[in-house]
Amino acid sequence: TYVVTDACIRCKYTDCVEVCPVDCFYEGENMLVINPSECIDCGVCEPECPAEAILPDTEGGLEQWLEINTKYSAEWPNITSKKDPPDDADEHKGEEGKFDKFFS
Ligand code: SF4
Ligand code: F3S
Repeated sequence: TYVVTDACIRCKYTDCVEVCPVDCFYEGENMLVINPSECIDCGVCEPECPAEAILPDTEGGLEQWLEINTKYSAEWPNITSKKDPPDDADEHKGEEGKFDKFFS
């Protein structure tokens, strides 16, 4: 599966949802997640994300993100079309430590 990582937090560009053939993105207040049991590993979302927030879990070291994507995709609503990112999205692009600061 692919997973969304903390680089998405406060950026939410949502380009990813437009290309996913199985509509498996779910939206929280500050980030999106992928439902790992719905993702078919096509990989088309990875290069679409301007924040480089999407990675294949085969990359290693992403266990925390696999857990978060699994947990929250069961709780958050499905998102299938692109919407405007937050006004300050670019300011948070590439910022370190976003999980501790903004994820609740
Ligand atoms: Fe959707 Fe493909 Fe990305 Fe999985 S890898 S979330 S199926 S676009
Ligand atoms: Fe987030 Fe990138 Fe999608 S910033 S909303 S994973 S395009």
